[in-house]
Amino acid sequence: MTIYRHFYVKSHAKTTPDINLKDLPGSAGRLDVIARCINAAFWLSYGIRKNVVFHTILHGEPNPPVYIRMEGEKLRKVSPDERNIAIFIKKALERMKEDKEIESTPGIFVSKKNFQQLLEENKDKDFYILDERGKSIENVEISSKPFFFLGDYMDLEKEEKEMLYEYGAQPISIGEKSYLSSHCIVIINWWLDRKGF
Ligand SMILES: C[S@@+](CC[C@H](N)C(=O)[O-])C[C@H]1O[C@@H](n2cnc3c(N)ncnc32)[C@H](O)[C@@H]1O
Repeated sequence: MTIYRHFYVKSHAKTTPDINLKDLPGSAGRLDVIARCINAAFWLSYGIRKNVVFHTILHGEPNPPVYIRMEGEKLRKVSPDERNIAIFIKKALERMKEDKEIESTPGIFVSKKNFQQLLEENKDKDFYILDERGKSIENVEISSKPFFFLGDYMDLEKEEKEMLYEYGAQPISIGEKSYLSSHCIVIINWWLDRKGF
């Protein structure tokens, strides 16, 4: 049985396809952060992790929220560099429909979903909030339906964490230091690899 690894990273990136690919950290609203998280979630040295599903909601202006989901089993033609990943996010924003989810390119799905809807749709999974002050991952039995939630360069909002707790989320920590979100994802992937997931 395949155990899928779901990751959500909140993003403050802009919600317009008018993205300057030469300025991902600036005018695109830190799109570089989410691109690095996507790289960390999927790429191995010689291929893609097919058992990963990556979720983000872009919260930047002018048209938030924009929900994007990437499914490792179906991804095609995306390469691991930040610029290329940003090109696919740009395509998703160009092709998005206001009233329904569409597959903008193979394995990439875009819609106007908000955080509450995302949680409700995924309530069959076990939610883990990545939090420096949470229970050490070494002492947590990760379930076979894990869904990990992280902030980007800012933490998740208090209200978002409260919503997660209502769905039974557990705060887990990979250490006392505050790491970059993309580095946290690498560590979680490595940890699950070691555990034979
Ligand atoms: C760059 S950190 C957020 C930065 C910082 N907390 C702030 O708001 O300025 C991004 C995310 O990585 C996760 N994270 C960072 N260090 C962690 C750790 N040691 N254990 C668990 N999660 C961590 C948290 O989910 C955090 O929201």
